[in-house]
Order: sequence, then structure tokens, then C-alpha cells
Amino acid sequence: MAKLKASFICQNCGTVTARWQGRCEACGEWNTIVEESAGGGIGGGPQRGARRGRVTALLPLSGEMEEAPRISTGIAELDRACGGGIVRGSAILIGGDPGIGKSTLLMQAAAGLSRGGNRVVYVSGEEAVAQVRLRAQRLKADDTDVMLMAETNVEDILATLGDDKRPDLVIIDSIQTLWSDLAESAPGTVTQVRTGVQAMVKYAKASGAAVILVGHVTKDGQIAGPRVVEHMVDAVLYFEGEGGHHFRILRTVKNRFGPTDEIGVFEMSDLGLREVQNPSELFLGERNTKSPGSAVFAGMEGTRPVLVEIQALVVASALGTPRRAVVGWDQPRLAMVLAVLEAHCGVRLGQHDVYLNVAGGFRISEPAADLAVAAALVSSLSGLALPADCVYFGEISLSGAVRPVAHSAQRLKEAEKLGFGQAVLPSLSADLPKGRDVSTHEVETLPHLVARVA
Ligand code: TYD
Ligand code: MG
Repeated sequence: MAKLKASFICQNCGTVTARWQGRCEACGEWNTIVEESAGGGIGGGPQRGARRGRVTALLPLSGEMEEAPRISTGIAELDRACGGGIVRGSAILIGGDPGIGKSTLLMQAAAGLSRGGNRVVYVSGEEAVAQVRLRAQRLKADDTDVMLMAETNVEDILATLGDDKRPDLVIIDSIQTLWSDLAESAPGTVTQVRTGVQAMVKYAKASGAAVILVGHVTKDGQIAGPRVVEHMVDAVLYFEGEGGHHFRILRTVKNRFGPTDEIGVFEMSDLGLREVQNPSELFLGERNTKSPGSAVFAGMEGTRPVLVEIQALVVASALGTPRRAVVGWDQPRLAMVLAVLEAHCGVRLGQHDVYLNVAGGFRISEPAADLAVAAALVSSLSGLALPADCVYFGEISLSGAVRPVAHSAQRLKEAEKLGFGQAVLPSLSADLPKGRDVSTHEVETLPHLVARVA
């Protein structure tokens, strides 16, 4: 095989540079650029150009499918995040911090699929067979027919999987341990990870087996992160959770076969991950309804409504530049809400420290949370608690107008289900359900909200 040309590749985002740099210009991370031999199957290896094209078949769009296109893992929250079960022949990447629970989740999924009559192969490159068996025992998955393989070389994995008796699902734990004879760099580098993942994706398409790839999110850039292979797979899920909180969220960021922004919610226990069917109950569980600065946001995560508590603390600042600290929301978005409160409502927060926290370690990305954030801020500043049975949603524009958001009906229905009696929402909200038990208060502008709260 011809010697591959060396180049410098960022281990975080995969950007290739001609020379070594301390900081990657594309993603801004420091010390992530490593010298690697380029090629190795990505974008054409050296043997590509020499080969003549082979005639392949042209097929009609319509046609028979032998099996159900999706298989259920027996874990409804995982099926939901995948868009209603795992699609045969698809490649799914599950990323997350080390220790967050990826191996646990996938062992439970493997057991569920196996109980459903599917053939599952769990390839562990990180743990020895004995360790994987121990986990399976702890999760009560050891009575299933899941097959184990402790292997890291991708050619050996594919040879072992064979051609004749293909499995329904192959789990690779993790992509950072994969290495291929075709790439010359060290295991864990971008070239190795991409070559290994590409081989597994090709196997999935050719065999019809679904492949789940585990990828550790890396902070120090020593090994390649899951971002460098996101474009190669059909679906990308991230497993998230805050240290100190016992629940975990599986979030869909890309899905060729289903909706994105979908979430699956789990609770950690001694016996593994437990599904949380009603996340709102969990997120509102520890709410103190009498203290000022707490507002309930009726949010949407994918197709599912989720109620979360937003906590604000506004205190007089002793600093020249007051402090702004946000957990679970967007810092620039908070700055915008503060600016609109100041410019259009006369609420002066320039001399105050502002702390904002989404309870339970949940992360919100919806602009619809603006109104709930504003209500929590004004409530904390005025020292008056908001009504305990009220939810808020609506987007705030720079002009101070409160803009309608999608899915009002679903948000209200969820609030009603959890016993809330009132909702503050944008005027002209479409699709409001008739005959509801939640009384609605429409606000047209932010000053209307401030007048209601303070
Ligand atoms: P693990 O699945 O090994 O994390 P990852 O594969 O993402 O690195 O889980 C990490 C640790 O947490 C492990 O020691 C088991 C423990 N754990 C539980 O005890 N209960 C749970 O529900 C989960 C998810 C993990
Ligand atoms: Mg693991």
C-alpha cells in the first residue's frame, strides 16, 4: 500500500490544516491538532482512482420489504428518541461524557432486543468480557442470548460477524477503541475513528443489520470526539445529564428516519436506567411554590410537552460589572431578555447580579422560554411569588412584543394534566383547545406581563 501523506487534523472537529497550530481555527479548541497520515478510506484512498466502475442495478422506488423496517428495543424512551424504534440497516451514534451511562443503556437495549427475538452482538473494546458479564448480571440481562465480542480491530470484527448469519443489531462500544489495518495513525485519532466508523456504516448498509456506535465526548482533544463522524451516520443521539442529578436525557440531534429534538428521559438506579414516562412530574417534583423567582415554563421537546421550573435570583451587586450566571439556558438569550426588560418596561437590573437556573439540571433551547424567564426575573426582583398554579410560554422580540409559539394546545394540555389552572401566553396563539380547564391570560407585550407580575 502506498505511503499516505501526513497532515494535521483537529481531534475535536476534524478540520485538516497544512501545519501544526496550537489552536484550531475552526472550532477554537486548544491543543487538539495532531499529526496523522491522511486518507485511509475517507474521500478516496490511493487505490480509488485506479479502479474501473462496476455496473450496479437500477431499482424502482416501490418494492417489497421482507421485514418490518423498525425493531423495538423494549425501552420506549429509547425507541422514541430513535423515531419509533431502530431502523434496520441504519447506523446510530450515541455520544456522551465518559461515565454518563452509555454502556448501561446499550446493555439494557441489547437485552430488550434479544428478548424480542433479535440477534444482538455487543462488541466491547473498552471492557473485558468478564466486566461486561458483571454489568449484565447487575442489570439482570444475563439470561438473554446477547453475544459478546471483545475486539477492537475493525477487520477482525467484520470477519467475525461473517456474511451468512447476520445479526439484527451490532453495538460497538466504543468508536475510540476501533482501529483498522488500512489507517496508519494511532487508535483514537480522527483517521482511525473515521475509517473504523466508515467500515461499520458500510457493513450496516450492506447487511441490513443496525449498528449502534458509542462515542465518548472528549474535552482534552487527546482522542477524536464523536463530532468527527456525525456526518457519516443516519442518526446522532447524545446522552446528557448533570453530575449530582439522577436523571439522564437522550437527545436526538440528527435523524434521517425521524424527528430531531426528540428526547428520552431516564432515571438512574442501582439496577440500571429506568424510563421516566412523565418527565414533567420529575422536573417539578422539588419545586418550592411559595418563593419568589420561580416560574413554570410549558416547553416542548420534540413531539412531547415538558414542564420545567425556571428559577431566578436577582440581588443588588457589590461588583462594578454585575454578575450574570446561567445554568441550563442560553447566556446571550438572558442578556436579551434583560435588555428588553430595561428598555421597554423600565425594569433596571444594571446594578443587580442575576442568576438563572433551570431546575433539575435540564437544558432548554427553545426561545419560547423567554416569557417564563422574564416572569421569574421580575418576580425575584419584586419579591412577590408567582401564582403556584400558573405556567408561562412565549417568545419575546427586541421590540418588547410577545410572539406566539407553536404547539400551544399541547403545552396547555400538559399543564392541565399536571393540575395547573392558569397560563400566561402570547395573544393570537393559534390552536388553543376549546372547553379547557386552564384559564388563559394573553399578553401582547412584555410590559403587560410585568404589570401582571409586579
Ligand atoms: P457506564 O454505563 O459504564 O457509563 P459510560 O459507558 O457512558 O462510560 O456507567 C457509569 C457508571 O455509573 C457505572 O459504574 C455504573 C453506574 N450506573 C449505575 O449505577 N446506574 C445507572 O443507572 C447508570 C446509568 C450507571
Ligand atoms: Mg462505557
